[in-house]
Order: sequence, then C-alpha cells, then structure tokens
Amino acid sequence: MEGSVLERIRALDGEFDAALAGASNADALEEVRVRFLSRKGEITQIMRGLGGLPPDERREVGRRANALRERSRIELDAALAALSGPQDTIRGEDLTLPGRRPASGGLHPVRQVELQLVEVFRGLGFDVALGPDIELDHYNFRCLNFPDDHPARDMHDTFYVTDDVVMRTHTSPVQVRTMEKVQPPVRVVTPGRVYRSETIDATHAAVFHQLEGLYVDERVTMADLKGTLAGFARALFGDRTRVRFRPDFFPFTEPSVEFSFYTEATGWLEIGGAGMVDPEVFRSVDYDPEKWSGFAFGLGVERIAMLLYGITDIRTFFENDLRVLRQTW
Ligand code: PHE
Repeated sequence: MEGSVLERIRALDGEFDAALAGASNADALEEVRVRFLSRKGEITQIMRGLGGLPPDERREVGRRANALRERSRIELDAALAALSGPQDTIRGEDLTLPGRRPASGGLHPVRQVELQLVEVFRGLGFDVALGPDIELDHYNFRCLNFPDDHPARDMHDTFYVTDDVVMRTHTSPVQVRTMEKVQPPVRVVTPGRVYRSETIDATHAAVFHQLEGLYVDERVTMADLKGTLAGFARALFGDRTRVRFRPDFFPFTEPSVEFSFYTEATGWLEIGGAGMVDPEVFRSVDYDPEKWSGFAFGLGVERIAMLLYGITDIRTFFENDLRVLRQTW
C-alpha cells in the first residue's frame, strides 16, 4: 500500500512537469494549480492520507510529498511571473531597481594629515619610528631631563597608570627609545597619539596626535633645523611660506624654540616646539655629546589639520559626527 503511495508521488512528479510544460497562459497555469495544489488537488490528497500510514512510512511519504508540493509551488509562481512581461522580475524581485551601494569608510582627517606629514618627511630623508601609548615615566620624563619633582613636569598634565607608568604626554619618549636602539646618524619622525588631562574646549583635547622629528649626526646646527622646517612648511603650505623661531623652554632641548609659519593667507601661525637635543638626553642613551649633536621638533597634527581644512574647533575631530566623517574618503 505504502509502496503504491510512493509510486504515485513519483508519477505525480512527471505529471506535474508535463502539465506545466503544456500550460502557456495564465488560465492554463491556474488549471495546473487547481489540479495539483488546490484543496482537492492530487498532492493535497496525498498529504491528507498521511495520517493513515504507519509512522515510518509516513515520514518518507510526507517528506517526498512535501518536496513535490514546494517544487510545484515555486515553479508555478515562476511560470506565472514569466508570463507577466519582460524578464525583469524573478519571484517578486524587481531587477530594474538600482543596486544598493555598499557603505565604504574613509580615512579620518587626522590620519590623512598624519600620512601627508610623514610623506613630506620621507621626502626629506626621515624614517618612521613608533612607540607605545602607555609609557614608562622613565622614557616620558626621566631620560628627557625632567628630574623627579621638577616643576617642568607641570607643563604636562599627566594621566598616571601607576607611579611609574603614564599615558605618554608627548611623542618625545620615542626619541629616546630610538636612540637606545640605533647609533647615529639618526633621522626619524615619530607620529602618534598623546594624552593630557586637559579641560576640553575648542583648542584643547585630552587625546590628540603629535609628530616628532629627530635628527642626530656630527655638527648638526640650528640652521639644519630651520632648513628642515622650512622645507616642510613649503611642502605643506606653498613655496612662499616662511619660518620663524622664538625662544621657548623644553627640558630636553637647549636652546629651545617655538616655531611659526607665515603664509600670506593666514599670517603667522604657531606650529610647534623644537630645539637642539640637550646633552643630558644624549648621556641617557650613551651617545657622546662631544661627538654628536642633533635637533628635535614636535608639532600637533590636529593643529595642522585645522589649518589645512579651515576647522576652528578641535572637538570636530573626535565627536564622530557623521556629517563630518561622511566627507572623508
Ligand atoms: N615634546 C614637546 C611637547 O609636547 C614638543 C617638542 C618636541 C619640543 C621636540 C622640542 C623638541 O610640547
């Protein structure tokens, strides 16, 4: 008995194909649907009879009848859709709709400027060196000639992790880490994120980016520093850009300066700090200060980005306003 039900299903399989192939308009397709799938249709009848079969036969018969029912529904739908005009719908999908454009991210403006700065310095012969954001007091302060309890430490509002570990307040520790590893001549730039416990406003952020430069060789002078910064200024802001030094103080450079760029459009812009590497710093990395001299400079990447893009509030860079981020590429 069960055998004959399975045979019947197999036969129906072929009968359905034949009926479908012979149906060339909507009425004919409806007839096929009624014959196989309506309440009294052939497939429905078999499904109804399932209850009368012994359980293990029931499972097999049910599975095959179900498969046939699904297949006939799908093929009837497709045949009906194919009748209803050009082939621009397949089972309810409208193929003429434009595709959905995948969302694509972009580089953050600060990142773009950082890469731009690095490229300029690569052109001037500098390599890139990186260091950790979570830094030892030893590298962030000690080797840079900030003695313990020295008031110079107050220049940096420091986030302490432990007594000996800080969130780096500047990229200058990477100078020290680099000089520990290699012998002069050294020519590196070290871009990176820095942290200061600042009150946040339009010109202050607690997390921002610096780019540090270090050049150590024999007989390096302030003139080399100024020439390098001038080359950098011109690459960034145009050939007529000028560079100015004014006295400043940093524990790790002597003499120390702040440097500004002049463009006709902007007037004088304060860009960063710089100076000749202090002999104390050379001693901390076992460089002979009688033999080697060098310059270092540091600048804020957000500051440059603000100048390049005409942004007046540093918070624009980290508030993740989609109206800003969507303009990136
Ligand atoms: N590290 C200094 C700062 O964060 C900048 C600087 C770097 C100054 C190198 C001189 C030389 O303020």
